[in-house]
Amino acid sequence: MKTAVCPGSFDPITFGHIDVIQRAAQIFDRVVVAVATNLAKNYFFSDEERLQLAAQSLAHLPNVEIYLAPSLLVDFAKAHQADAIVKGLRGGADFFNEEPMALLNRNLTEIETVFVLADPALAHVASSYVKEVAAYHGSIDKLVPEHVAAAVYNKLAVK
Ligand code: PNS
Repeated sequence: MKTAVCPGSFDPITFGHIDVIQRAAQIFDRVVVAVATNLAKNYFFSDEERLQLAAQSLAHLPNVEIYLAPSLLVDFAKAHQADAIVKGLRGGADFFNEEPMALLNRNLTEIETVFVLADPALAHVASSYVKEVAAYHGSIDKLVPEHVAAAVYNKLAVK
C-alpha cells in the first residue's frame, strides 16, 4: 500500500487544493493531508478551523485522512508511513518555491516529493486571493466550497 502526504497551510482550503488532493487520491492507495504551519505566515483561521474546513471539503474521498501537523513535515510523513510527499504546481512560480523544500525534505529523510500539475482552469486560485477578494466584498464562490466561503465571510465579520 502506497501512502502520500499532501501538506499545506489550507488557510483556507480552495478548489485548487481539492483538485490536487483528488489527483493524489487516484494515484496513491492512501492520502494523508497535513494541515501544517508555516512559521513565516500569520494565519487568518486557527489550526482547528483550517483542519475542520479541510476535513469537510474532503469528506467525499474515502482514502483521504486529515490531521494537524505540528512538527517538521518529514517527521509527520515518517509517523504516517508515507512513501512520498505530493505537491501541486500551478506553474513555474510554484516550482521555484517548491524545489528547495523538496530538496531539503529529501536531504533530511530521503523522502521524495512528487509534483502534480494543477488543473489550468484553477491556476488563478490561491488562499491569499480568497481572503483579499472576500475582504473587498467580491464573490469567492468559484474559488472555495460553499461552507468555506461562509466561514471566510463570518470570520471577516468578527475581525
Ligand atoms: O500552503 P503553504 O503555506 O505553501 O504550505 C507550506 C508548508 C506548510 C507545507 C511548508 O511550509 C511546511 O511543510 N511546513 C511544515 C514545517 C516544515 O517541515 N518545514 C520545512 C519544510 S521545507
